[in-house]
Amino acid sequence: MQLTLSSPLDMHLHLRDGKMLEIVAPLSAKEFAGALVMPNLVPPVTSKEMVQSYKERILQVCKDDRFTPYMSLFFLPEYDYEFLQELKDTILAIKLYPAGITTNSEGGVDNFSLEALAPTLEAMNELGIPLCVHGETNGFVMDREAEFIPIYERIAKRFPELKIIMEHITTKEAVDALMRFENLYATITLHHLHITLDDVAGGLLRPHLFCKPIAKRPEDRMALRKVAFMAHEKVMFGSDSAPHPRDKKEAPGCAAGIFTAPVALSALAQIFEEAGVLENLQKFVSDNAQKIYNITPPKKEVRLVKEPFEVPASYADVVPMFAGQELKWRVESVL
Ligand code: DOR
Ligand code: ZN
Repeated sequence: MQLTLSSPLDMHLHLRDGKMLEIVAPLSAKEFAGALVMPNLVPPVTSKEMVQSYKERILQVCKDDRFTPYMSLFFLPEYDYEFLQELKDTILAIKLYPAGITTNSEGGVDNFSLEALAPTLEAMNELGIPLCVHGETNGFVMDREAEFIPIYERIAKRFPELKIIMEHITTKEAVDALMRFENLYATITLHHLHITLDDVAGGLLRPHLFCKPIAKRPEDRMALRKVAFMAHEKVMFGSDSAPHPRDKKEAPGCAAGIFTAPVALSALAQIFEEAGVLENLQKFVSDNAQKIYNITPPKKEVRLVKEPFEVPASYADVVPMFAGQELKWRVESVL
C-alpha cells in the first residue's frame, strides 16, 4: 500500500537556532513543503530585522529551495499599524504567548483585556495578519486551555474579520469553541492525536512525551480525532515539534516539548489508516492550511509506503517521539 502527499505543511514548528537549528531544520525541509516557524527564540523575534535574519539562517541550513519557512512574529501588545505594515510581507502570522506559560515565553502577554491588546490587534485586523495563540491560562494544568476560551471568544467577537488560530488544541471544549465562531481555526498536533495524560504520567514518567499543553483525557483525544480524521476545514496539522537536548528532557526539571518532525508523516499515515480515513490526510496536512492562510507552497510529492520504519533512538542529542519503536509507514521518496 502506498500514499502520495502533495506539498505537506507543518503549520506550527519550533526550529530553534544555532546548533539545534542545524540538526532539526533539514529534517522538516526534507519531508515538508513549508512550515510556520515559531518565534520563541531567546530573545524572541520581535522586529523585521530579526525575522529576516532568522529566515536566512533557516534557509542556509535547509539547503532546499522547495521548503518555505513561513515566518511569525512574537506578539507584543504595543505594535502599531506602521510597524506592522512594514513587516507584513515578511511574516505569515503573529504568535501570542501568555507570559511564562511555556518555553521562552517570559516576554509574552500578561494583560488580556481588549484595551491592552488593542493597538496590535487593531493593526493586525486592518492589515489582515492572522493571530496564532497559545491558549492557556496559568490555572490548574488540566484546566488551562478550557479557562482560556473566554479570551478567544472576546477577541473573536471584537474582531470578526481577524483570523485567529487556536494553536495545538487538546480539549473537547476547544473543539466546541472552534465551531462557535467563523473566524476561529485550529492546529492539531500528532502527539495530541496519539496520547493522553496516561501515556505521559500514568505509568513510568515519560519525559519525552511531556509538553504544553499537557495531553488530556481520552474523551478530549476523541474530540480532536473526530475533527482531524474528517479533515474539518477549520483544522490543520501543526506538529508543535519542539526539540530540546536530551539533558534538558531527562532532567529533574524536564523541558516541555515533543520532537516529532521526523516521524510526523509516518505516524499520521498510520493513525489515519487505522481510522480508515487515509484519503483525508491530504486535506489535514496541506489543503486546509493553504486555504486558511491563503498560501501556495512549493510543489513537493512525498511518497509513503506501508513498510516498517525503525525510528532512530535519537537525532544527534534529540530524542524523537517513538524513539526505537517501529512505525508502519515510511517516507519512500520525495519528488
Ligand atoms: O511543549 C511545548 N514546547 N509547548 C510549547 O508551547 C512550546 C514548546 C517549546 O518551545 O519548547
Ligand atoms: Zn509551539
